[in-house]
Amino acid sequence: MTKSFRTILAGSRRSEGAPRNVRLMVAVAAGVLMLAGAASADEASTSASSTLRELGAQVQLRIGTAAVPNDLSDPTLAQITADQFSVLTPGNEMKWQVVEPSPGTFNWTGADNLVNFAEEHRERVRGHTLVWHNQLPNWLTQGVANGTISDAQLRDLLHQHITTEVSRYRGRIWQWDVVNEMMTDSNPSQLNPNDFWIAHLGAGLLADVFRWAHAADPDALLCYNDYNIAGEDGSNAKFNAAFTTVKSLLAQKVPIDCVGDQGHLDLQFGFNPILMTQDLRAYASLGLKVAITEADVRTFVETTDSDQTPIVSKTDPTPSHTANPAGADWYVGMLQSCLAVKACISFTVWGFADAESWIPGTFKGEGDADLYDVNLNPKPQYTALQQTLSLARGAPHRGGSSREED
Ligand code: G3I
Repeated sequence: MTKSFRTILAGSRRSEGAPRNVRLMVAVAAGVLMLAGAASADEASTSASSTLRELGAQVQLRIGTAAVPNDLSDPTLAQITADQFSVLTPGNEMKWQVVEPSPGTFNWTGADNLVNFAEEHRERVRGHTLVWHNQLPNWLTQGVANGTISDAQLRDLLHQHITTEVSRYRGRIWQWDVVNEMMTDSNPSQLNPNDFWIAHLGAGLLADVFRWAHAADPDALLCYNDYNIAGEDGSNAKFNAAFTTVKSLLAQKVPIDCVGDQGHLDLQFGFNPILMTQDLRAYASLGLKVAITEADVRTFVETTDSDQTPIVSKTDPTPSHTANPAGADWYVGMLQSCLAVKACISFTVWGFADAESWIPGTFKGEGDADLYDVNLNPKPQYTALQQTLSLARGAPHRGGSSREED
């Protein structure tokens, strides 16, 4: 701490008996000086040149990205994946559809590559995902649909799937998204009775799958992962449903350790970082860790007149970030929410490059959701996260060691 800041701080403490407006002015002056101090000399140069993972380590927060095989094999993408992040989540490569394309025949290539890459670059892995209605193998869904797989067999197959996959990577996965996206989007929300797994095996399955995963790797943190469960829907409807569900699992002594809030934001809807902070704190109050697991902030991008193809594409690589300054603010809001909650252990973006993004393929006319533009230049979204992490070093519960192992 600089001498001048110590002096002001002491003045601020001494002003405790002074009128409220004087105390306020002293506190504001202290804050301004602190920020000025942080932005001066070495700290400013550190922030301008430090990677997200380095800055995250200084506030005991791991910064992650989802990665697909191209992110590990393309030299430029791989360099960013290794340099900027300290956690990797496979975008698709650990999903059942990929790892068991036909019954009893496994394909671990993509998942193995990702875990090996992560270890080589001192990154941890968020395993994603074991129980989800989407990206299931055709043989499984067709077998259930045509009655050749009974519900009892389905339950055994799921147990086997979880045991096989979690055991394979035992000791190498930091957090597992055991269950993904099981709440309805309605208000009020609830565990979705029409979810593929609930419909066939009942809500009691939730407790079982966490227990099966825990048996296969007792050291992995086991998470419930979903979107809009930290107030992004404004109503808190999905938060209420998720909170009730995880609380009930804890009451049954189910080994659940964390809640992952995906953080897929869209500028056409609202976002309230105060509500997100409150909700993350509420999960933490149950003794759970929390994480932002799939952050991105999409918006409508300029489109061609003819076919509405988003301009953010590989064929027309016009960076459009100038159209989306609010994107940086919303990224910062999510990061600040996480930083404000001690139990928030990682902040992961769902891919870092607009050219690789899942958004244009899913939300017609939208894009510009990521930290790097289509030419792989860092956008204001990136710089804003960098600055926020740099300034967070003063937060009391985020101080301390700069070792990523913490
Ligand atoms: O691999 C095939 C390829 O062979 C084929 O030519 C091509 C044609 O469309 O499809 C390829 O598969 C695609 C797969 O991603 C791999 O790229 C699927 O069509 C596509 O539907 C699939 O999308 C994934 C999506 O989950 C599926 O719901 C996205 O990549 C993936 O980023 C996304 O991730 C989800 C999280 O798991 C859960 N939360 C939401 C998030 C975004 O939807």
